[in-house]
Amino acid sequence: MYKPHTVCRACGLGSQGPSTLKISAAAGEIYKGPEALIPVFDLGIQPLANDFCGGSEERSGYAPLKVLYCPRCDLGQLSVTVSPNILYAHNYAYVTSTSQTMKDHFGMLTRDLLEQAGRKCPVLEIGSNDGTLLAHFRDQGFPIVMGIDPAQNLALEAKKKDVTTLCAMFGREAARTAKSSMGTPGIILARHCFCHIDNWREFIQSCEALCDERTVVAIEVPYAHDMLAKNEFDTVYHEHLSYLSLKSVQYLLANSTLQLTRVIEYSIHGGALLLILRKIGHPVHESVGRMLKAERCGRADWQRFSNQAELKIMELSALVRNLATKGKIVAGYGASAKSTVWISACGFDKQQIKFISDTTKGKWYKNSPGTGIPIVDDGALTRDLPDYAVLFAWNYEKECIAKEQIFLDKGGTWIIPSPAIRLVSKTSL
Ligand code: TYD
Repeated sequence: MYKPHTVCRACGLGSQGPSTLKISAAAGEIYKGPEALIPVFDLGIQPLANDFCGGSEERSGYAPLKVLYCPRCDLGQLSVTVSPNILYAHNYAYVTSTSQTMKDHFGMLTRDLLEQAGRKCPVLEIGSNDGTLLAHFRDQGFPIVMGIDPAQNLALEAKKKDVTTLCAMFGREAARTAKSSMGTPGIILARHCFCHIDNWREFIQSCEALCDERTVVAIEVPYAHDMLAKNEFDTVYHEHLSYLSLKSVQYLLANSTLQLTRVIEYSIHGGALLLILRKIGHPVHESVGRMLKAERCGRADWQRFSNQAELKIMELSALVRNLATKGKIVAGYGASAKSTVWISACGFDKQQIKFISDTTKGKWYKNSPGTGIPIVDDGALTRDLPDYAVLFAWNYEKECIAKEQIFLDKGGTWIIPSPAIRLVSKTSL
């Protein structure tokens, strides 16, 4: 089900052999620190975050959830790699959000990528999910769009939107197939899938094989600097194999024909970066040097993060247990992967969280992974009027609170778990 991970996927620390030496020499640093990855954050054995199952369905299982830190390039990475066949291949529950927040983000992304590419060109999306973003690009007049995604259920959804999707994991072979089908893409886009990928070298080499001088490779990733600063520990789960620093990207690209030419910051998902990679020779924007200088993804930052997370878990655990003991009904809102992390870390079950309401039909009538907490439809908050609702989709805070006005009007209180735990009621607004 999973294999141990011991060698840094960006700089090769932990491996013996020439590739390590070559990379560190190319990055212009002589490294003299520890020669192995260092454990910095440990949530114990956890269920897979998107393993939403009905009563008698077979569960995918549990795996250690522990982050190792690379002292050379500051990359955080999980100590195990769960097989992608288990995580993604059959019925992947996460679908691209159609929320207003996401629509606004897609608007900004299209505008920024058009500016980078300088023309409406063919777009290849890696990890294209149900084709929502590619349909948006097509509607904006980009001439050819194509997706690559390993989840069969999502490729079928994309087909309904008339978005051509290659149902495969991205790698050399998928890159070859895509190129022969669509020609050279002008934009290669990968949104929030890069940190799910184990073999970064193959990913970069496959992109190189797809690119010409004009191609823009755009990789949207959560940024470890933001995650550490805001203590978003609930974004640590088995699908997220890496917690990216820009320093690690520099190491990763040191032996390739691609270079990091620009970094664009977005507020989506609690803080994300769009890494723009282009063939060597393109000018490098000032954002690269500026952000590398300001980056705080070191060992001490991870240590602080781990201590703060422990305190927050204790705080939410005590708060919800206290309310349940007093006979208050507490629900969850948004059966996000983040909800699984919180619920497992706090050890909640139906006694503490009665149900979780969610807009995703595919999650309804299933249980929150590793528990008997049922996922129900998004009308439940208004219908059942619990006393409290934990906003596990905290990255959509404004939108969710505005949408559930009746809950507040009838005296309901939100518990917002991130970045710091706080209560929101009608009187506090
Ligand atoms: P999201 O934060 O997109 O991802 P992750 O699973 O990676 O943590 O998940 C948000 C979940 O919240 C998703 O299952 C949809 C749900 N949701 C609602 O139920 N109501 C809403 O208004 C919104 C915006 C999301």
